[in-house]
Amino acid sequence: MQALFHTTGLVGTGAMGRGIAQMAAQAGSTVLLYDTQAGAAEAALSALQTTWQTLVGKGKLDPSKADAYLGRVHAVDSIAALAPCDLVIEAVVERLDVKRQLFAELERIVRPEAVLATNTSSLSVTAIAASLQRPQQLAGYHFFNPVPLMRVVEVIAGLKTSAHVCQQLTAYTKQFGHTPVAAQDTPGFIVNHAGRGYGTEALRLVGERVCDFATTDRILKDQMGFRLGPFELMDLTALDVSHPVMESIYHQYFEEPRYRPSVITAQRLAGGMLGKKTGAGFYAYEKGVALLPPEPAVPEVTTLPPVWVSPKAARRAELLQLLKDLGASIETAPAPSATALILVAPLGLDVTTLAAVERLDPTRTVGIDMMLDDKATRRRVLATNPATRSDMRDAAHALFARDGKAVSVIRDSGGFVTQRVVATIVNIAADMCQQGVCSPADLEVAVTLGLGYPMGPLAMGDRIGSANVLEILFNMQTVYGDPRYRPSPWLRRRGALGLSLMQEED
Ligand SMILES: NC(=O)c1ccc[n+]([C@@H]2O[C@H](COP(=O)([O-])OP(=O)(O)OC[C@H]3O[C@@H](n4cnc5c(N)ncnc54)[C@H](O)[C@@H]3O)[C@@H](O)[C@H]2O)c1
Repeated sequence: MQALFHTTGLVGTGAMGRGIAQMAAQAGSTVLLYDTQAGAAEAALSALQTTWQTLVGKGKLDPSKADAYLGRVHAVDSIAALAPCDLVIEAVVERLDVKRQLFAELERIVRPEAVLATNTSSLSVTAIAASLQRPQQLAGYHFFNPVPLMRVVEVIAGLKTSAHVCQQLTAYTKQFGHTPVAAQDTPGFIVNHAGRGYGTEALRLVGERVCDFATTDRILKDQMGFRLGPFELMDLTALDVSHPVMESIYHQYFEEPRYRPSVITAQRLAGGMLGKKTGAGFYAYEKGVALLPPEPAVPEVTTLPPVWVSPKAARRAELLQLLKDLGASIETAPAPSATALILVAPLGLDVTTLAAVERLDPTRTVGIDMMLDDKATRRRVLATNPATRSDMRDAAHALFARDGKAVSVIRDSGGFVTQRVVATIVNIAADMCQQGVCSPADLEVAVTLGLGYPMGPLAMGDRIGSANVLEILFNMQTVYGDPRYRPSPWLRRRGALGLSLMQEED
């Protein structure tokens, strides 16, 4: 294979630089490694050697290929030695002044048609290129850690970047087997922007004391199929990384409420409870393994009350069938009897609002999240309101746990847990499409590969139904009065017209 760039230079050979160097060598380029720290480029070279030897040892790489890759990588000890490069990628410290100065020096060294690329994750590509003689030659080229395993790369056009430069980087990415996605130069690009909903909304509901960290994680994993709960994820990433990203994107978008960070993570960061790497985060760790609090026990209830279901409940027919399957005694009169457990199943509204609006006895009213098909989830979620009697709460818990399915009982919340977190994710993704950060297709690919979500956010919204997501957001805005939940025009229009969230305009 003929590499699109014959010679690729890597400036900064730390965690990211060496991973990118591996990809460049595997694409067939000659790779020059340069780092200001003495011995760092040589260390990266020997780390690459170890990586390829390990792959050979596991039978995953042909020894002759490993030799060829290694033969193409060279450590150099001066920046001037990068003169023959057709492409130079920087992965140095995340500082605008350092990156600007570096590129100013590089453009004096390399040929005018050489491509310059920055692996920045949070700085503006446009700002990095602003003082260059040839800003059209510089693009963002954002890899994820660990580079060989995270098979998506964002190619970012700054304001003056030439389309040809982006095309070359896109084609080069395919040469080493990763998936390129195109992003406009906006804070967080695609992946770090789309990822704002999951953690921040989970933090909000925990901050409201709807339920605890572990319950939130269990619900999102069991109902929606997320591999890691938001708090497990923050523990893994560590708060010294994730909290500053939350703050940075929020401020770069001039305090947009959709990205508002939380005092919970600010406080924990200040207190050094960073996550797994410090042995204590949202979870405690023993020998690197999280100590999970036990699930609350199912209450023992000897006689269950009859159940009355609100006529306005979401998925009412399915809920009635479920109650039948669970052996409940179902009331069919227009109003509940004096002893009935009253069930509501809101979308976006809280149990309190429904009890008040439908004039139901709040002491006997419990909510169930029916946004998703019960059969498609591994957990049921019930919510009380401030007036719910404990015997009614326990009866509902026992009833819905009768077939052995996990049940979580939370406090009142507009949109329970899953509805509000998923609606927030979908809304942010929809607004990214509205802003033209990327195409709907690239957004879906970037999020599934970069964040490991079970499906892209737009597909998530389509699965629930764009009209339902819209209803959830309108109702959450009513409950909380927070512009954070205002639906993006992209979602609002597609929801109102019953269109897929993937639908683009001609
Ligand atoms: N680590 C990640 O998860 C990740 C993911 C995506 C993007 N990034 C971005 O990649 C870049 C590098 O991150 P990293 O985690 O590899 O950092 P790192 O600290 O592991 O490596 C940085 C290397 O750059 C060298 N360096 C610093 N200034 C230099 C200069 N002026 N000239 C040459 N070498 C210089 C350092 O000696 C060091 O070896 C940053 O911009 C970061 O934001 C990091």
